[in-house]
Amino acid sequence: MAYELDQFISDCRSILSRDPGPDGREEVRTKLERLLQNPDFVRKHCEDAPRGLHVLYEDPKLGFQVLAHINEKARVSPPHDHGKSWAIYGQANKYTDMIEWQREDDGRDPNHAKLKQVKKYRLNPGQAGIYQDGAIHSIDYPDNARFVRVTGTDLDKIERIKIDLKTGKVDTMRMMAS
Ligand SMILES: [Fe+2]
Repeated sequence: MAYELDQFISDCRSILSRDPGPDGREEVRTKLERLLQNPDFVRKHCEDAPRGLHVLYEDPKLGFQVLAHINEKARVSPPHDHGKSWAIYGQANKYTDMIEWQREDDGRDPNHAKLKQVKKYRLNPGQAGIYQDGAIHSIDYPDNARFVRVTGTDLDKIERIKIDLKTGKVDTMRMMAS
């Protein structure tokens, strides 16, 4: 039987209630990969869905969200974090090139960061990557790439940073869809 969105949500609830830490999130990541193997789910929520960002589920108790990102245009994001949250990105179609960054500075200057690239890889359909609290990454995807994100909380409600690669300038942001 196909693994459905409802079952995925129920699994996320029980996993994250038992273990909200990195091990529990890793379990959620593998479940998301399983969900993305369901062609009916991908068609309905990712391929046939209208363009934009859709909240498929928000947990009233634990606060995690399941989001479908239905992108039309290609985009390269600046390096950014997810604040005090974590994020899991699961590719539905096309691909997303991921770069993971580390700070080389001591983090004391709130306005400036020096970044070093530590990992670069491509998420293909059915693959999910995890970014723990405070991790910095950037994403690069082509036209019509679609992905499903699971975040620990509503990222629009928390403070996050993005970093200009050329100047190292750190900006605090809200409401950024990556
Ligand atoms: Fe992100």
